[in-house]
Amino acid sequence: MASLEEIMATQPIDFVQLTYNIADREPEQRLLPLAKERGIAVIANRPFRRGALIGATQGEPLPDFAAEIGAETWPKLLLKFIVSHPALTVAIPATRSVSHVRENMAAARGPMPDAEMRRRMAAHFDDL
Ligand SMILES: NC(=O)c1ccc[n+]([C@@H]2O[C@H](COP(=O)([O-])OP(=O)(O)OC[C@H]3O[C@@H](n4cnc5c(N)ncnc54)[C@H](OP(=O)(O)O)[C@@H]3O)[C@@H](O)[C@H]2O)c1
Repeated sequence: MASLEEIMATQPIDFVQLTYNIADREPEQRLLPLAKERGIAVIANRPFRRGALIGATQGEPLPDFAAEIGAETWPKLLLKFIVSHPALTVAIPATRSVSHVRENMAAARGPMPDAEMRRRMAAHFDDL
């Protein structure tokens, strides 16, 4: 069976859905650059690793630089990391809570991290 990369490289597809988040950054190597090059929209699923990233950051202080990107909560910071990737079109966080829907949607507004800030975010997360 053809790999996702092969399909993306050869087929006239409009969008792909893949797992991408601050802990699962492997798509940055090949799939996301390929999507950008081919004009393929990207949906990021499991933005919170099925909730595991919420648990991993709970109780951890936000980094000082979070204020620079308007992230006053960890869920917003985690979503801003995803949607600020230049190849990303949308992230699809799952929630059963209306207040979480509002919080998650707010991550699409305000300042977005640039490439250097994204590196700082990933490094900070890796050190948690
Ligand atoms: N097509 C595919 O191959 C595929 C594969 C995987 C996933 N998906 C889709 O991707 C979407 C997300 O997947 P997922 O459920 O695996 O994981 P997820 O979105 O990474 O994590 C969901 C978890 O995060 C919590 N959460 C969400 N917003 C929060 C917030 N603001 N603050 C605190 N906790 C928050 C939720 O709890 P609360 O309910 O308490 O907010 C839930 O436990 C779903 O729509 C799923 O159908 C598709």
